[in-house]
Amino acid sequence: MDRIIIRGGNRLSGRVPISGAKNAALTLLPCALLTDEALTLRNLPRLADVDGFGHLLNGLGVSTAVEGARGNDFGRVMTLRAEQLASTVAPYDIVRKMRASILVLGPIVARAGEATVSLPGGCAIGNRPIDLHLKALEALGAEIELAAGYVRAKAPRGGLVGGRIVFPVVSVGATENALMAAALAKGETVIENAAREPEIADLCRCLVAMGAEIDGIGTERLTIQGKDRLHGADYRVMPDRIEAGSYACAAAITGGSLDLIGARTEDMTAILAGLTDAGISVTPHAEGILIAANGRPTALTLSTAPFPAFPTDMQAQFMAMLTLADGASVLTETIFENRYMHVPELARMGADIQVRGRTAVVRGVDALIGAEVMATDLRASMSLIVAALAAEGETQVHRVYHLDRGYERLEEKLSAVGADIERASEG
Ligand code: UD1
Repeated sequence: MDRIIIRGGNRLSGRVPISGAKNAALTLLPCALLTDEALTLRNLPRLADVDGFGHLLNGLGVSTAVEGARGNDFGRVMTLRAEQLASTVAPYDIVRKMRASILVLGPIVARAGEATVSLPGGCAIGNRPIDLHLKALEALGAEIELAAGYVRAKAPRGGLVGGRIVFPVVSVGATENALMAAALAKGETVIENAAREPEIADLCRCLVAMGAEIDGIGTERLTIQGKDRLHGADYRVMPDRIEAGSYACAAAITGGSLDLIGARTEDMTAILAGLTDAGISVTPHAEGILIAANGRPTALTLSTAPFPAFPTDMQAQFMAMLTLADGASVLTETIFENRYMHVPELARMGADIQVRGRTAVVRGVDALIGAEVMATDLRASMSLIVAALAAEGETQVHRVYHLDRGYERLEEKLSAVGADIERASEG
């Protein structure tokens, strides 16, 4: 297992190419299951989770061919083809490593009439149930059975039928499963209280490119006219707003300036507003967004909520940035319980953070000190990288496999803008 070693204190400056969005990629890949024609996805990030999803799809009978896998280009092109499904089962061994595997459930049952997917189980950032995914498929006529750690969904004879899905709480994954299933269901489906995250709009656009008919893209009410069949398409994955936001925090905490090439302001309104409120300059331009620090950040009050509000996936990195802010910040996490696992690690670096329930009070300190740290999830790990970049002395971040799930070539991107960072093998 690798670790990352950072000697902090360098001001970061320069251009950072923003990769394709992990969370968009993980819902675009299963779209290949919806057609017997080829789906080509461009700008896929090179990440462990994307490879893992590719393996899951291979096991279901989807062929995957990758161009641009070698060399230094960012972004890969993958052509996927599910001429026939070889299996309708997503096994425990793959699903346990990657929760997003649940996103094959809707497409497989829509295409093949039945699907069996291992239950994803607990997760480091809370319970993360899948009841909303199952309710959505039931609304399209599927029968759901749970047995021996697996969920089995079976469509009625003749396939799924359009229906009305009303989500009691906003769920990104459940909206995605519902959309993919509805695209091949008979008749009209209406999804109320749909998630509005930009990755959902990306999924809708890819489905439309495959021949689907969807109204209300980008809104909380999506109307889908189901088709008998979808066709192949060639689609480019959107830029990763969370990766971009993470590098923005790195620029801010080091007193530097980073140009986030490819980042889109419309996907990042709440993140950019947070940065601006913290006194950081944000300058959008034709190629991306320039982020520049103006001394210490000022303290903030922030609460996570579904898009367009401030994303839970940015909470940890903002918290790291605010450990060196002028004054006390108040952060509230409303999406996931137990998403403060970075707090004790940041405290080991000298941060002053108190958590009470869902709220964390972060009092800015004069300096962070390098330490050995590790995190239990992806964004928490990135918060430790952000802190380490500004800390005095050396920080070693263990369990790097979390970062490899979500940040394409992290060390390369950071060292190119002046960070003192390297990867070493553990042990
Ligand atoms: C996705 C993102 C993740 C992000 C999250 C919230 C991917 C691969 N992951 O996760 O990075 O942090 O959105 O923006 O895109 N819930 C239920 N029942 C369900 C489903 C969800 O109660 O069936 C609850 C969850 O426990 C949570 C809330 O709904 O409290 C939101 O979760 P959801 O939007 O579904 O997150 P994911 O799709 O898992």
